[in-house]
Amino acid sequence: MIKIAIDGPGGAGKSTVAKALAARLGIVYVDTGALYRTVGYFVRSMDTDPKDAAAVEALLPKIRIELAYENGTQHVYLNGEDLGDRIRTPEMSMYASAVSAIPAVRAFLLETQREISQKNSVIMDGRDIGTVILPDADVKIFLTASDECRAKRRYDELIAKGIDAKYEDVLAELIARDHADSTRSIAPAVAAPDAVVFDNSWMTPDECTEKLYSLVMQTVGTKAK
Ligand code: DC
Repeated sequence: MIKIAIDGPGGAGKSTVAKALAARLGIVYVDTGALYRTVGYFVRSMDTDPKDAAAVEALLPKIRIELAYENGTQHVYLNGEDLGDRIRTPEMSMYASAVSAIPAVRAFLLETQREISQKNSVIMDGRDIGTVILPDADVKIFLTASDECRAKRRYDELIAKGIDAKYEDVLAELIARDHADSTRSIAPAVAAPDAVVFDNSWMTPDECTEKLYSLVMQTVGTKAK
């Protein structure tokens, strides 16, 4: 079994590259941010303050999250419902970041992540994959890019999805969220000591995928299908 961890800030291109690598290696791609977004969505739908740890923790027993793979694409079900792109709005990014700093939320989502990684060869992207979820991963990558590049990519993504956005707001939101994610006391978004830090500011997604594919093959080539 192969375990690959990709961490890094928002908009660094983790999901694009991880998805492409998973398809090439024939392994499962797990987008762990979607789990935190789903918890954030539920908290929002209950009109609860996402920073109120006790109130959020009290909601957890009402949440059932299931991961399913349909035609190679991950779907997250919240109490039986696939939320699709409803978890992808800028508001849900902030809700996800806020609830992700609550220890009870991280503990709640741990089992889902452990279970899928124990049963499958996986490439997981998130913030704490190399440090907490897959500490023994075969390859650990910390993917990053300049603030401006990341904001431009996020902005283009939102516009392509028909979500109204302003570049300046996207940039400010990304910087605030990265700061919160990387300075929180539990599982901060930092590179594992044994991770390869990779800045892809000046690369296309294809170039980045190609470079990381070579890196992965050097390390796990003989294990890959
Ligand atoms: O990767 P993303 O933008 O979809 O993640 C949304 C938020 O979820 C992010 O701001 C922090 C949190 N998150 C986390 O704390 N740990 C992870 N493994 C993945 C995401």
